[in-house]
Amino acid sequence: MKKIQLLTILTVIAMLTVNCSTKKGKSDYVEAKKISYNNDIKPIIANSCTPCHLPPQGRKEPLENYEHVKENIDAIIARVKLPQDDRRFMPPVNKKPALTTDEIALLEKWQQQNTPE
Ligand code: HEC
Repeated sequence: MKKIQLLTILTVIAMLTVNCSTKKGKSDYVEAKKISYNNDIKPIIANSCTPCHLPPQGRKEPLENYEHVKENIDAIIARVKLPQDDRRFMPPVNKKPALTTDEIALLEKWQQQNTPE
């Protein structure tokens, strides 16, 4: 009987501890989620910014590799966050769908994390 009581108490303590740490851990996890060019950013560019920003069609800033995207991340974020009726909005309306808020958030988080490859 005593063992059971002890077990119960331990279980409750364990549950409380886990609960606290997951609550705290959750936002830490989101904050700490590691974004990388290859896993997260490259697919967005490949999906939404091609072929215009890839040689040989690319007329403007090429965005076909890590260095290019890293160097242009400020301009990229600025363009995709413009109002869609701004003529500098990227990708051009009628050509490709706008980026989702999640995709934009990924770009911004990548920038904050110093653009890991
Ligand atoms: C349909 C073709 C097309 C697509 C798709 C496209 N762009 Fe562009 N982009 C252009 C053209 C043309 C220009 C030059 C005109 C201008 O500056 O608005 C340009 C200019 C830019 C510039 C400014 C470059 C400079 O030299 O100042 C950035 C940054 C940019 N695009 C980012 C993007 C991003 C990010 C995407 C994908 C989310 C994208 N573009 C998708 C055609 C495209």
